[in-house]
Amino acid sequence: MLSIVTLISGRGSNFEAIVKTAQKERWPVKFAGVIANHSAAKGLEFARLQGIPAFVVEHKEHAARESFDKALIEKIDELGADLVVLAGFMRILTPGFIRHFEGRLINIHPALLPAFPGLHTHERALEAGVQVHGATVHFVTEGVDEGPIICQASVPVREGDDADTLAARVLVAEHQIYPRAVKWFLDGRLRIEGNQVKLQPPEPQFFKL
Ligand code: GRF
Repeated sequence: MLSIVTLISGRGSNFEAIVKTAQKERWPVKFAGVIANHSAAKGLEFARLQGIPAFVVEHKEHAARESFDKALIEKIDELGADLVVLAGFMRILTPGFIRHFEGRLINIHPALLPAFPGLHTHERALEAGVQVHGATVHFVTEGVDEGPIICQASVPVREGDDADTLAARVLVAEHQIYPRAVKWFLDGRLRIEGNQVKLQPPEPQFFKL
């Protein structure tokens, strides 16, 4: 049985969507632990209620990024992760961390990458006047919000949207595609070829919501 370790910084609704889908679909998977970078992360409560081991590796206790990441690596390795899921984890990870988990480290970003990497994606999408927006699940490589794309979902931008209404629509899409991407990984269906992720056997990796 494969093990997942999830890193969160906040609400943890993507983590919750993954756990609930796993329960509903009876995935043979072990949620080995959830780690937050501060104790106020709401998602820790859900983990505890589910009996999933929840930990805090406080980033403020580390003067340098390298030492924080080293503490994270140690905790994740101790838990034994086949897959590390970044779910709203708001710290930039060092190249050393990323190399350590290369090929088994995935992230969700609330935009259709490569559009709008970084923060405030919904505000920026509205400012840019795009007609479609969405979410991307990708393998993590050293660039911020880069890396081979596993799947994407688009949502329309509607008349009168503000950043909150758009974020809420994107979040619904996130909760659909992140569990799906995790399942594909667990089933060994993802092959990275250059910057592309091939799903074997093939099925659509893009969803229009
Ligand atoms: C999501 O929009 C995710 O894409 C972004 O941060 C948000 C986290 O939400 N990286 P949650 O903690 O999963 O509820």
